[in-house]
Amino acid sequence: MRPQPIARPLTEAALFMVATVPPDLSDDIRSLLGDAEGLTKAVGFRYPHAQLSCVVGIGSALWDHLSPMLKPKQLHPFIQLHGVVRDAIATPGDLFFHIRAEELGICFELARLLQARLPPGSVIVDEVQGFRYLDQRDLLGFVDGTENPDAGEVLGVAIIGDEDSDFAGGSYATVQKYLHNLTAWNALTTEEQEQAVGRRKLDNVELDEASKPSNAHVALNNIHDDGGEELAIYRLNMPFGSLREGTNGTYFIGYAKDVSVTERMLRNMFLGDPPGNYDRLLDFSTPTTGTLFFCPSLELLQRLAGLSI
Ligand code: HEM
Repeated sequence: MRPQPIARPLTEAALFMVATVPPDLSDDIRSLLGDAEGLTKAVGFRYPHAQLSCVVGIGSALWDHLSPMLKPKQLHPFIQLHGVVRDAIATPGDLFFHIRAEELGICFELARLLQARLPPGSVIVDEVQGFRYLDQRDLLGFVDGTENPDAGEVLGVAIIGDEDSDFAGGSYATVQKYLHNLTAWNALTTEEQEQAVGRRKLDNVELDEASKPSNAHVALNNIHDDGGEELAIYRLNMPFGSLREGTNGTYFIGYAKDVSVTERMLRNMFLGDPPGNYDRLLDFSTPTTGTLFFCPSLELLQRLAGLSI
């Protein structure tokens, strides 16, 4: 089974689009699912240098309409968390498009073609245009993505294999849009910021265990199974913002073959590990969306398009 183009590295630009769709217009939705790869080629072929790619995700409720008999084992609505300082909220979303390229204009062109194919009554409930900021930094000023699995490891972390063989080649995408309070963040000293993240700001080196607080972001997200093996996800976060609106954000997207890994990270961040020891980054970051999508293999997308699942 060929996965969708999940395993690629971060690009200069990305466009994230989440839509709700009227489930009774399932013929239109199936035809869009079937054509998404072709539309991506129609744009991307003309600009090979731009490395255009698109991953399509399907939310739990829409999946139930499209394929009531067969469902990925871990596909469910995003699990809300009532956290210590912030809630991880769940928000609507039936279809998700993760469009990436080296140029934003090319992402936008594909998004327009996809939007034109959404059935009448669909609503784009979220659209974010993300950009590379300096040397891969988030808008808190820290390099984001360093400890991601490398090219040889991504498939093993993000793409389903035999554990759910009907859905091999698929992946779970957890998506949250965070807004940062930069006024409060910038009131911290650089050392305090480094303790919140768990890495040094300028040179990106991880703090040693003795100086890394247990509520640092990387401390709470560095997790292991019972046998001591590290549990990882593939993150493709992008910064976004608006000077006029005063928004500074991180669009979090984590791909996993086992979404319980992402969900455990979220519990660590919001509820704390041990309970109450929540992620210090949340004092400065608020999620404004929360969604979970299943991104089928390219073959399964075609089968969904043709009703034959
Ligand atoms: C690491 C930023 C949300 C999972 C990091 C790092 C930064 C960062 C700067 C350190 C460098 C790196 O290894 O990438 C952010 C920001 C977020 C956010 C600004 C949104 C406010 C999340 C969420 C999850 C997550 C929601 C999981 C559900 C991880 C993991 C690591 C990491 C697994 C690597 C930990 C390790 O060192 O082993 N993040 N992150 N992050 N983050 Fe996040």
